[in-house]
Amino acid sequence: MDYLVELKGIKKSFGGVKALNGVDLQIRPGEVHCLAGENGSGKSTIIKVVSGYYHPDQGEIKINGKSYEKMTPQESIQAGIQVIYQDFSLFGNLTVRENLALNQMLAKKKHFIDKGEIDRIAKRAVERIRFNVDLDALVETLPVADKQLVAIARALLDDARLIIMDEPTTALTRKETKRLFEIVNDLKRRDVSILFVSHKLEEVFEICEQITVLCNGQNVISCPISEMDDEKFSYYMTGRIFGALEKRKRELNPEVVMELKNITAPGIEDISFKLHKGEILGITGQLGSGRTELSLTLFGLNPAQSGAIFINGRESQIKSVGDALRNGIGLVPEDRLTEGLFLPQSILKNVVIGKLGRLLTRMGLVDDCILEEESLKWIKEIGIATANHHLPVNTLSGGNQQKVVLSKWLAMNPDILILNGPTVGVDIGLNMISIHCFANAPGEECRS
Ligand SMILES: Nc1ncnc2c1ncn2[C@@H]1O[C@H](COP(=O)(O)OP(=O)(O)OP(=O)(O)O)[C@@H](O)[C@H]1O
Ligand SMILES: [Mg+2]
Repeated sequence: MDYLVELKGIKKSFGGVKALNGVDLQIRPGEVHCLAGENGSGKSTIIKVVSGYYHPDQGEIKINGKSYEKMTPQESIQAGIQVIYQDFSLFGNLTVRENLALNQMLAKKKHFIDKGEIDRIAKRAVERIRFNVDLDALVETLPVADKQLVAIARALLDDARLIIMDEPTTALTRKETKRLFEIVNDLKRRDVSILFVSHKLEEVFEICEQITVLCNGQNVISCPISEMDDEKFSYYMTGRIFGALEKRKRELNPEVVMELKNITAPGIEDISFKLHKGEILGITGQLGSGRTELSLTLFGLNPAQSGAIFINGRESQIKSVGDALRNGIGLVPEDRLTEGLFLPQSILKNVVIGKLGRLLTRMGLVDDCILEEESLKWIKEIGIATANHHLPVNTLSGGNQQKVVLSKWLAMNPDILILNGPTVGVDIGLNMISIHCFANAPGEECRS
C-alpha cells in the first residue's frame, strides 16, 4: 500500500516534556483519518511536525514516497500539505481579504501588491464555503466562529493533497459543520486526504474512515473506524470506562438568583428569563443570534439600553465588569486566546489572578506558598496536564489552556457563572468532570 504520509518513531521533547515519544502515523490518499487523544497527548505537535514547523528529535518522515530529514514549512506546502491550526494562526491586524490571499501572494514572490488579484483570491475562498463575511473587516474584530471560517477558507484555497484540520469545528454550529463536511466529502472524491482532530465523537464517526489514538505522545491504536464504538473510543482515549450519564432529575430550587426583564442591548432584543439557584440554564442559537452579546451584557461589557436585571430579587445596574464581579457574576469567554488568558504569564498566575485579593496575608502581602497551594489544588482538581505550573500558559496544549480559564473562574467561586462555549477543545475526561461540577449548587464543593 502506498501511503501519502508515513511517519515512523517520531520523537519531540520540549525541555523535560516528551510531547512525542515514538509516534507512527500512516495516511492513505483520499482517506479521512481521525487523530484522537486526550488533551496534551501530542496531536498538535505531530501536526506541526508534518507541516515542517517543528523538526523531530528522532524519527522518519516520508511524504509521497520521499524521505525528509528536516522538512521546512515551504517543503511541506510544496508537498501539498495545508493546515487549519487549532489557534487559527491568522493575522489579526490584517483584513479578511489580506489573510485569505497572503499565502498565495507570498508563494508567487511578487514585488508589488496586486489588489485585483488579492480580491479575486479572497472572493474565491469565501464563495467556496459559502461564507458571508465583510472582506474589509480586520480579523481581530471578528467573532471567533468567523475567525475559524477564515482559517478554513484559507486552507482550502490551494490544491492540497492533505488537509490537516486541528479541531476545525470547535466554534461552529451544526449548520456550518455540515457545510464543512460536504466540502470534506467533495475533497475525498478528488483523492485529497484529510487528517481530522476532534473531541466530538459524533463528528468522528460521521466522516472518518481510519483512526489513530495517541496517549502521552505514544500510539494507543490505529484501526478502521468501523472497528470502533463509543465505549471503545472513550476507553482508548482515557484508559477509563464511562457509564452512561445518569439523568438526574433535580428539583428546581424556587429561589431566583437572576432575572432578566425585556433586556435590549447591542445585538440582543427583548430578552427575558429567570435563573434559579443551582440551575444550569442552556442558551443556544445560530451563529450571530446574539448568544455572545447576551453573555457580554450580563458581564457588563455590553450594557443594556433598556429593560431590567434583578440579582437575588434586587434590581442591579450591570454597566461594567466591576459591577458584574460585585454581583458575583463570572464569565468564561468564547475566545480563550484573546479574552481568557495572559498567554506569556505562568499557569500559576493565570489560575490565581482573579482570586489574588482573597489570597493575601493578613498584612496584605503576597505569599508565594499560598499561591502555589491554590494553583496546585486546581491543577489537580481539573486535571491540567503540566510538568511545572511556572511555565507560560502558552506552552500548554489547547485543551489544557481552556482548563486554566475554567480553573480561574471556579477558584473565584462566583454565584453565577456564564460559560460561553466552555468545552472548546477539552477532551471527554474534563467534559465528564465539568458536568458533575456545574451540576452542583453554587457554593458546593466541586469534585470530579
Ligand atoms: N512549545 C512547547 N513548550 C513546552 N511544552 C510544549 C510545547 N508545545 C507542546 N508542549 C507540550 O507537549 C504536550 C503535547 O501538546 P500538544 O499541543 O501536542 O497536545 P494536544 O494533543 O494537541 O492537546 P489538545 O487536545 O489539548 O490540543 C503537552 O504536554 C504540551 O504542554
Ligand atoms: Mg492541540
